[in-house]
Amino acid sequence: MIRFTNRFLNFQSLEKCATAISNHWKNAAIGAAMIAGLFVVSGCELRRAMYDQPKIARPLMESTFWADGMGSRPLVEGVVPWSDGPYIEDALLTDGKQFNAATTNLMDAVIFPFPITADDLARGKERFEIFCTPCHDRAGTGNGMIANRGFKHPPTYHQDRLRAAVPGYFYGVIKNGFGVMQGYAPQIPVEDRWRIVAYVRALQFSQNADPMDLPPELAGQLK
Ligand code: HEC
Repeated sequence: MIRFTNRFLNFQSLEKCATAISNHWKNAAIGAAMIAGLFVVSGCELRRAMYDQPKIARPLMESTFWADGMGSRPLVEGVVPWSDGPYIEDALLTDGKQFNAATTNLMDAVIFPFPITADDLARGKERFEIFCTPCHDRAGTGNGMIANRGFKHPPTYHQDRLRAAVPGYFYGVIKNGFGVMQGYAPQIPVEDRWRIVAYVRALQFSQNADPMDLPPELAGQLK
């Protein structure tokens, strides 16, 4: 309450200040320099009024406003931290993040939120060729038509850094964008983003496959 009275006093003094200024204008008795000087003074007054207002200037600062004297309020009962509890699954599906118990941080997911089937891959290929090839081209080397016509060339997917990147990283790039590349969250629904990630993985594999990974019956057909 004391703080409120302070505020009130400040408003009163502001009012006085304003009257003083207008009187000066009315009388036109004092030159422009004096009026400018008055503004400087009233400016100080304004600044102080804002400076002295009741506020929690620093986190965890004490406050006389609450009975317990704490400026930062305790969490309302039943609050669940976003990065914990039942939302962990959402974090994986919709944000491509996994909770890391060791660091208590969310990190880019190293897994897909649902098993990827051949149908998912087919859908991912289709979506990729609609939304991504204009810049990244169909093989993912970054020479799409838009890049060839002057837009920044995207990096090729076929480089060690992006081969090592986890699925959640690609998901995040699709959802939020990266550098000059816009995010595709408004155009591409959650599940399709994952299908595109899976297809990008397949593309990467297609350019960097180890013959030893082939099943024996196919390995024989290699020329
Ligand atoms: C309009 C052009 C354009 C489209 C369409 C586009 N991208 Fe990009 N993308 C870029 C550019 C340019 C970069 C590099 C951005 C930068 O470095 O500023 C990039 C970067 C990336 C990267 C690399 C991030 C890194 O760490 O280097 C990934 C992965 C990626 N895009 C995935 C996609 C996927 C998946 C799609 C389709 C959903 C897509 N992009 C659609 C232009 C585009």
